[in-house]
Amino acid sequence: MISNEKIINLYSDSFKLMKNVLVIGSTGQIGSELTMKIRREVPGSTVVAGYIPGAEPKGELLESGPAEIADVRDAAGLAAIVDKYQIDTVYNLAALLSAVAERKPLLAWDIQMNGLLNILEIAREKNCAVFTPSSIGSFGPETPHVGTPQDTIQRPRSMYGVTKVATELLSDYYHHKYGVDTRSVRFPGLISYTTLPGGGTTDYAVEVYYSAVKREEFVCPIAPGTYMDMMYMPDALHAAIQLMEADPARLKHRNSFNIASMSFEPEELFTKIREYIPDLRVRYEVDPVRQAIATSWPDSMDDSCAREEWDWKPTYNLDSMTRDMLFHLREKLGK
Ligand code: SER
Repeated sequence: MISNEKIINLYSDSFKLMKNVLVIGSTGQIGSELTMKIRREVPGSTVVAGYIPGAEPKGELLESGPAEIADVRDAAGLAAIVDKYQIDTVYNLAALLSAVAERKPLLAWDIQMNGLLNILEIAREKNCAVFTPSSIGSFGPETPHVGTPQDTIQRPRSMYGVTKVATELLSDYYHHKYGVDTRSVRFPGLISYTTLPGGGTTDYAVEVYYSAVKREEFVCPIAPGTYMDMMYMPDALHAAIQLMEADPARLKHRNSFNIASMSFEPEELFTKIREYIPDLRVRYEVDPVRQAIATSWPDSMDDSCAREEWDWKPTYNLDSMTRDMLFHLREKLGK
């Protein structure tokens, strides 16, 4: 594993391009950590924490830099922030996750597609780079599930997946047609201890750690045997930064790169947690909506293009992630 010190050095060497950054969705699962990481590791940078009313930044996130209301559906509001802070890089992290998007498909379309179009138009006019994450959700039942190739069939059946494929295509369109510097990764399910995800299919793999530390029974909505790609948040943040700082001349792909670090099904995760908390109790109550989505997603993606084109390399596996999650959650929950 690469030491933290080495990772920080790697980041500071590569932080030449990004200076004035807008993180849209800065209080969400990824945004809350990404905003702080760029602020901490890029001296002299300005990172604007964009949020929507009702999800205001608090504590360190609020105190360590500027914050602005940044609703992706409000193009004029976004443009004003870009002008005010001379933004050069936008992390567009506003999204409804897969299960909640099935309940609110029109809202998911509005945020994910109309919101993206607003951002891309502003980026075209004001010359910003844009990172909009895609996901394992951009794949569907006809996709090869094991070793899912970079370029393959993408026919998802969830609204979340439909918006992710469209995001990839629209982002590439703006790059090819207008030269906008759009880049993206297909995130696996992300596991973290800082901010909980909300309404995703892979959320179970976060929630079980909380139950384990609290000594509560965990009710699992995903059936045993269902493999999905997963990733620990530090690797995901590293990817989001490293890709935006990569040499564009090396990029044959842009929207979007497969990235992978681990793949497991529920029983493998529970067995690993039991190595450290032997009395973890689990009961299955499979949610048909999430299960149908999970079954349609890859078991494990092939991330060789990301490795070749911008030197992607994860550092955490299931064991090192589990040890780190349990350590931090015990501290956070006072257990
Ligand atoms: N974690 C997301 C979800 O489960 C997938 O990108 O919806």
